[in-house]
Amino acid sequence: MQALQPPSQLVLRQQQQFGQQPLLLVNAPDAGVVSELNVAGVWHLHAGYAAQWQAQQPHVAQHFGAQPPSLTDVPAAAAALVWLPKEKALSLFLLDALRALFPVGTDIWLVGENRGGIKSIHKNLPASVTAAHKVANGNHSLLLHCQISEPLAQFELADYLVYTDYQGAAEQAPLTLASLPGVFAFPSIDEGSAMLLQHLPRISHGRVLDFACGHGVLGAVLQQAQPQLEVSYLDVSAMALAACAETLRSNQLQGHLIAADSLTAANKEPSFKHGFNYVVSHPPFHTGTATDYSIGQQFLQQVNQHLCQGGELWVVANRFLPWPELIEQAFGHCERVAHDNKFAVYKAIKSVRRASPSKPKSAPAASRQRKPRQRQWQ
Ligand SMILES: C[S@@+](CC[C@H](N)C(=O)[O-])C[C@H]1O[C@@H](n2cnc3c(N)ncnc32)[C@H](O)[C@@H]1O
Repeated sequence: MQALQPPSQLVLRQQQQFGQQPLLLVNAPDAGVVSELNVAGVWHLHAGYAAQWQAQQPHVAQHFGAQPPSLTDVPAAAAALVWLPKEKALSLFLLDALRALFPVGTDIWLVGENRGGIKSIHKNLPASVTAAHKVANGNHSLLLHCQISEPLAQFELADYLVYTDYQGAAEQAPLTLASLPGVFAFPSIDEGSAMLLQHLPRISHGRVLDFACGHGVLGAVLQQAQPQLEVSYLDVSAMALAACAETLRSNQLQGHLIAADSLTAANKEPSFKHGFNYVVSHPPFHTGTATDYSIGQQFLQQVNQHLCQGGELWVVANRFLPWPELIEQAFGHCERVAHDNKFAVYKAIKSVRRASPSKPKSAPAASRQRKPRQRQWQ
């Protein structure tokens, strides 16, 4: 079993705090906590955590989505334990959802890593919950407790949607972007994604994958210009996918939404069957507050397998990230299409396989291994 994340370790050390109350776990990364807690159900916001829980604890009631579960999904739940996300707005969103689910006086525990903002959350809690008090600390984490003091009559996801306009090419109508708390660059778009959009080609047909789509701006701009494009939007975050669905709806577009934490996890999706003509991405390099290159690395090592022959990869990234070397390893080349002092746009094409009359002898494995060239770009 994987090592538990520090907040989960603190939860296990403090399990007596929760008594026998059946808990609704919210945003819980580690299925390993289940053996020590009285778990009534889990509300997932992260597709990777959800997959881990479903594999390890298939009998626990589970719900994935930006919409909270209903009490009929988790009828026994009498209190909640929330692994606080790093975004304050998302933490407040979760508390509102719990206020609509549970009555006054319900216990809510909040746990998180010190560097993730839990130390200051008590200053931001609304009056609709009691003041949070410290229950325990350890494992570089903090466990807080509060109670619902004012219930919320009804929770509407629509109340949290924020809309902005993105103006792409001058001849195009602005795209309506929908965003939600916790979505990247909330509520608009960041400079890196804007740079990629300035350089993406006009794609007239084919299948496109927007990997790590957030609210879907990259795919939706392409699809708005060519509505017949088949676009798949993949993200790990339930909040991002809900925002993306609303971006598509607001612009009368249709796409395939995929909740997954990697290309491998999405492999069985119908839209993956025939490969993509284009993959566009602004890949993440964080998991929560921690820097994490593994997602981008894995994506760049695998993406070639999901492109059709002649298919194109278009990526934007902060310039310090080692993506060009990885792209070069995977594709044999990497073109830097644009850059400024912070971001760069990279492009690679999956080489077209030519039919050769006589098959050349394959080189020994060691010499086939392509060494990454040292990059001179600064
Ligand atoms: C830099 S943002 C880009 C979002 C959007 N494409 C844009 O340009 O605004 C990276 C996105 O990666 C998502 N993400 C993080 N880890 C992921 C993973 N393991 N698999 C898929 N998406 C992931 C995040 O939820 C976030 O939406």
